[in-house]
Amino acid sequence: MNLSSSPPASRIIGTGSSLPEGRVTNQELVARLAQLGVETSDEWIVERTGIRARHFAPDHLYTSDLALDSARQALEAAGCQAAELDLIIVATSTPDMVFPSTACILQRKLGNRGAAAFDVQAVCSGFVYGLSIADAMIRAGSVRKALVVGAEIFSRLLDFTDRTTCVLFGDGAGAVVLEASDRPGILTTQLHADGQHSEILCTPGTVSGGKIIGDPLLRMDGQAVFKLAVGVLEDVAREVLVKAQRTEADIDWLVPHQANIRIIQSTAKKLKLGMEKVILTLAEHGNTSAASIPLALDAGVRSGRIKPGDTVLLEGVGGGFTWGAVLFDL
Ligand code: ACO
Repeated sequence: MNLSSSPPASRIIGTGSSLPEGRVTNQELVARLAQLGVETSDEWIVERTGIRARHFAPDHLYTSDLALDSARQALEAAGCQAAELDLIIVATSTPDMVFPSTACILQRKLGNRGAAAFDVQAVCSGFVYGLSIADAMIRAGSVRKALVVGAEIFSRLLDFTDRTTCVLFGDGAGAVVLEASDRPGILTTQLHADGQHSEILCTPGTVSGGKIIGDPLLRMDGQAVFKLAVGVLEDVAREVLVKAQRTEADIDWLVPHQANIRIIQSTAKKLKLGMEKVILTLAEHGNTSAASIPLALDAGVRSGRIKPGDTVLLEGVGGGFTWGAVLFDL
């Protein structure tokens, strides 16, 4: 990875995404949960979250399969071969294995050899973390082409007897290819975490001596997460704007983590952005954790809404507690 000249910036040159075939509407989920004696309704889910459907992966599918599909699309859009990549980052909290990393498994499936490959674990902020790391490595001159993927099969962490969490999440993957460039694409990035809040959103179990120790299912204090999320998302948006010497008026598109429509509306309002400037995939995807931002970004690009030259703000928040933002020109 020794390159002779250090280019000053990185650009996103291709996006891709993937959803497993199994689409589950609220009505279907409500019926499945009723069989477990769990009471919920389409009305409650839509009103409190904005979610109408999500995709659940079949048992034979792995996170790296969804990552592969989204990565191939992003590489095709970028006009780039997998062999050209010198960095592969997968943001995930649902890896195929304890180790090796899902990034190395993806690398094998893509047929790339020699690129640096590793996973990033920052839960729903994982993609923003991964993108920031890739941007920094490109700026440092050690990488020329990078693949950053957010991929999750969150359905496997869900407790389907806990209605406060199991209606919220779904499976999917999204990817971008980044390239070293003299013309700045990524303008600024900012990452944060506060481990004091690690218990409000966690999957506390682990593997030890061939057994699962502790609780291996997702647990969340939704109200605590909600309150923290609305505050930090505004703060980090302002941080990246100030660093880039831009203002809210310069933002063409907000692509937020898709967790709850009320959090997204609150963030947009604080940034004085009309909802027509926000890419929303929440209704159809649910919360896909690290995959949600790149899935939404790809939907915005492929639908022709996000165009070359547009200024885009990505924002993530999630377990850890972690949060971050990336401001870029496409
Ligand atoms: N169906 C019906 N009723 C329900 C359901 C359900 N699925 N879930 C909860 N309720 C009930 C509760 O039991 C409660 O009933 P009660 O008043 O009789 O006690 C009532 O609805 C209200 O519950 P609240 O928790 O107050 O509901 P709230 O409006 O806060 O919405 C939600 C809950 C959707 C989880 C919200 O708090 C939220 O979105 N939090 C943020 C989640 C988030 O942003 N996560 C991002 C990170 S994810 C990651 O990193 C993996």
